[in-house]
This record gives sequence, C-alpha cells and structure tokens, in this order.
Amino acid sequence: MSHKKFETDAIRTQSERSQFSEHSVPLYLTSGFVFDDAEDMRASFAEEKQRDLYSRYSNPNVNEFVDKVCAMEGAEAGFAFASGMAAVFSTFATLLDAGDHVVSCSSVFGATHGLFTKYFPKWNIECSYFSINDVEAIEDLIQPNTKFIYAETPTNPGVDVLDMEALSAICKKHDLLLVIDNCFATPYLQNPIKFGADLVIHSATKLMDGQGRVLGGVTVGRADLIREIYLFSRLTGPAMSPFNAWVLSKSLETLAIRVEKHCENALKLAEYLQAHPKVKWVKYPFLKSHPKYDIAKKQMKLGGNIVAFEVEGGLDGGRTFLNAIKMCSLSANLGDTRTIVTHPASTTHAKVEPEVKAAAGITNGMVRVSVGLEHVDDIITDLEQALG
Ligand SMILES: Cc1ncc(COP(=O)(O)O)c(C=O)c1O
Repeated sequence: MSHKKFETDAIRTQSERSQFSEHSVPLYLTSGFVFDDAEDMRASFAEEKQRDLYSRYSNPNVNEFVDKVCAMEGAEAGFAFASGMAAVFSTFATLLDAGDHVVSCSSVFGATHGLFTKYFPKWNIECSYFSINDVEAIEDLIQPNTKFIYAETPTNPGVDVLDMEALSAICKKHDLLLVIDNCFATPYLQNPIKFGADLVIHSATKLMDGQGRVLGGVTVGRADLIREIYLFSRLTGPAMSPFNAWVLSKSLETLAIRVEKHCENALKLAEYLQAHPKVKWVKYPFLKSHPKYDIAKKQMKLGGNIVAFEVEGGLDGGRTFLNAIKMCSLSANLGDTRTIVTHPASTTHAKVEPEVKAAAGITNGMVRVSVGLEHVDDIITDLEQALG
C-alpha cells in the first residue's frame, strides 16, 4: 500500500516506462500480448508469472488506472469495468448466489434499483430496502441468507448522507459485507474502507473523468473478494477499454484540484440558494442545515459538487425553471466541468411510485445541480435569472 500523499499517487503511479523512455504513459491499444515460447505461455496462463495475457483480463493502461484508484482508496486490489453499471452488476453477480438476499438503501441510482427489482428476482435473489431516514430498521431486515448491505453516500439525487461507521458496525455484528458506491464523493473526499467498507464501487464516468468524455467503472477493496470479481469478469468480459483507462488515468492526475474547485463552487451556490426567497429548501452536505451535517463532516473532506433544492410550484415549477436555464446544460450526466441541471421528478423518477420517491427524498419541485468549473458568478447568474 502506498504511503505517499493523494496528489503524488495520482500523478506518480505509472505503468513501467517502455524502451522509448516516454514521460507521459502511452496508450497500449492491443487486445493481446505475446509470449517467448510454449513454456512462457503455459506458465503465464497458469498464473505462475504476473503479466498481461489478453486485454479482457488486464492491460497496462487499465492496470495503471486500477493501481491509482487502489492507492487513493487505501484498497488492496481492484478491477476496472466498461461503465459504473458494469462494476455494480459484476460485483453483485460475483458475490450473490441464487437464494441470497441483499439489504439496500432505497435511495440508490435508478439502474441499480432496476437490477434489484427487475433482474435479481429471476435468479431468486431478494432485496429489502431501508429508508435513508430509518437506518434503525436495517437490523429487522437482515435474514439468514443476507449477504451484504449496499448504499451510496451521498445519495443520488437526494444528496442524503449515510453513516458508514454505523453501517459497518451492523455488518460486523451480522457477519455481512458492506458495499459502498462512492461515486458522488470520489476517493478525494471520502474513503469508505476507512469506515469499514469491504468493497467500494465508482462510476468513473463522473468526477473521475470530470470532462464528460468516457464511460468507466471500478470496484476496489479486499483482495480475496476482488480475486473472485476478476475471475467472473475474465469470463464474462465487462472490462474497461485501454483507451478509456488511458483517458481516466490522466484525469485522475488532476482529480484533487478539480474536486476542490467543484466543492468551492458548490458551497457558494448552496449558500446563495439558501438565502433566495423563491427556494423552499436546499440540501448540500456541508451546509449546517443538512440533516446529516455532522456525519458529512466526519466522513467527507468537503461537501461534493451536487446541490439539490426545491423551487416553488411543484412539478410545473421544476419544468419552468429548467426551461428558463440559459448557460447550464440540461443533461443526464454529472461531475462534468460544465454545470448540469436536472429535474428528477419529471425525468429519471417520473414513473417511480410516490412513496418510493418520498423515501429517496425526491419532491416534485426538486432540482439537482451538478456544479461545474465555470466561474461561480456565472453559474449563480444563470440560476438567478431562471428563478426570477
Ligand atoms: C451513484 C451512481 N452509481 C452508478 C452509476 C452508473 O454509472 P455509469 O453511468 O458509468 O454506468 C451512476 C450514474 O449516474 C451513479 O450516479
């Protein structure tokens, strides 16, 4: 495990220099690797040698990206995927057998929720949900066949915060694994392993890339579990492409300074919105008014780049606000240099049952802002005129 500082690991973790003595790591666009002779090939396939065989298994660019995320998260090992959802699915599919049960926070990314409700039942895997406001209910949901507790913190899109130490204590008591989606925080703001998580998942598509270019995902954590995830993924083929790994590894070099600025802009915007007469409420982990402010302060370095708030007028109010936006983007992604504004109640959560929406903290007039790196005055000006 690395003992260097975060920024140094992000920059100085590099795949081995080639015979060309390049300074910046080149792109290894190759599906396969060559062997010296039959014995070299046999020993490599038998894993007597640690080396790349085929890019569905590993590749120098992908290894570099994974090594960086492991160093940043304080993890023993990892595996990188084509997208965040490939990481979520492959991790679950590796850990779960038919007849198993999962306890998940009800406030999870829509596609993850879709896996639990649409596909897992057909493999006889059950899921029970706890509300973000009722963490005490978790122990009552645990069954003899429960394998792990799953949560995101902060949550998407409600920006709620869960106490990972408390979740980990429940997992230890009942001999369960704790799996955390750390996408909103990034490893720069929060390291779930320090608070007891066994596995940490990221959609690298978000702040890790930070410029809205490529998809990617990664799971890091306990080496024994990652080994199983690797064996599953080696057969099923959800691996990250070397090109995306090359882009993402270079992006990680600037993660710390980018995330610092995202958070500075987000806090300024949250404070501005909190004082605005047409805004009913604002949720941002580092605002004192956030219901879990103390927990956010305990486990996060800064508050992240997502701000949620409620405009007047419910569903129509939210849509009117979005229509009035001039500079910011209306887009499904988040964690980009460009500020993105969404209205969950009329888009991602339009078909979700009212009680499920309420449990996830989504109201009809709620707007989610992924605060970008434009000058914060211009972001505020755009939102101000849209509120007006
Ligand atoms: C919290 C969270 N997890 C997972 C994902 C899925 O990631 P991807 O879009 O890279 O598949 C997302 C995407 O928005 C997300 O917000």
